[in-house]
Amino acid sequence: MENEETKTLNVMLTGDRPTGRLHIGHYVGSLRRRVELQNEGRFDEMFIMIADTQALTDNAGTIQKVRDNVIEVALDYLSAGIDPEKVTIFVQSRVPELFEFTCYFMDLVSMGRLERNPTIKSELAMRAFGESIPVGFLTYPISQASDILMFGATIVPAGEDQAPMVEQAQEIAHKFNNLYKPVFVEPKIMLPESDACRRLPGTDGKAKMSKSLGNCIYLSDDAKTVEKKVMSMFTDPTHLRPEDPGHTENNPVFLYLEAFAKDEHFPLFYPEFHTLSELKAAYEKGGIGDVRVKRFLADVLNLTLDPIRKKRHELEKDISYVYRVLEEGSKKAEEKARGIAIQARRAMGIDYFENRKLIEKQQKAFNKAHAQEEALAAYLAKQKK
Ligand code: TRP
Repeated sequence: MENEETKTLNVMLTGDRPTGRLHIGHYVGSLRRRVELQNEGRFDEMFIMIADTQALTDNAGTIQKVRDNVIEVALDYLSAGIDPEKVTIFVQSRVPELFEFTCYFMDLVSMGRLERNPTIKSELAMRAFGESIPVGFLTYPISQASDILMFGATIVPAGEDQAPMVEQAQEIAHKFNNLYKPVFVEPKIMLPESDACRRLPGTDGKAKMSKSLGNCIYLSDDAKTVEKKVMSMFTDPTHLRPEDPGHTENNPVFLYLEAFAKDEHFPLFYPEFHTLSELKAAYEKGGIGDVRVKRFLADVLNLTLDPIRKKRHELEKDISYVYRVLEEGSKKAEEKARGIAIQARRAMGIDYFENRKLIEKQQKAFNKAHAQEEALAAYLAKQKK
């Protein structure tokens, strides 16, 4: 059973930490999909959160970085085609209900459960906090569960690394609904559609694009920069001369092509071939130089990124408009979360001021106690006489 308000709604919610501009890994992994989902119109409500509070869990000493990237991420969303008329874009820290329920949800999760979260484990390994893990960092999966549950999200489009977070949200919803009353929807993750999109490696061939490794191509990189980054990409180390047979598997250049190249790109930039499988077969056989394939990739990327860059350029001229989008989105988001918070507080019985029935019940109990006291006093007075 679900509550009246969320019963019939399909709600999408996802988000990003504002710790840097978004790169093409974000684009194929989620941003492109969000724009498609927005245009298909199959959700009743769509929310995209800029998770500044979560970003602060390991950036308490570098607040400026988070602050500056809120606008960068918002610019990336809007330039990639997110339409604020259709999608509520908002800032996590501006929705206080999220943090109230983070606290209640903390009481439903054990320390052991947090420490077993595989994403947290690998993030801890990368971050070298030593003995000084911030409590906020270890507990952010609970805060993220609140992000998801307080909007009644049914679907969370996200990468594989977010699966443990969505699972944590399911567990909390389940536990809450059983302990109190059914209020929360158990959300489902929606993974990227293909392997190529699931994890775009860095330009250096490392498993992940990451700002700190300097192996990213950003959505906002200009054409020259994209070209330069592509031309210096890691490819097949056994493919020394063009005549040599090459490997396309795990070859970053081909992984990028899989995520970006469409058949219509071939007549434009590589007329010798019609499809990516043709090009791959030829590369594997031998006779195709890496420089030529990289040239193709750079052309494909620049064709794809060009409209995004142009839109960003326009938006950058009116930053206060972008902040207005975030402010209005945050108000709308708070309204939604407030509605669910009211139901959830009622389910827990901590709706102290709104619950007339409970107030009357308590009054009756006090009245009864008073009546008993009075009866006893009257009896004692009578005895004395
Ligand atoms: N953890 C996500 C990231 O690392 C960001 C995020 C915060 C999020 N809250 C969310 C994603 C809710 C999906 C749903 O980028």
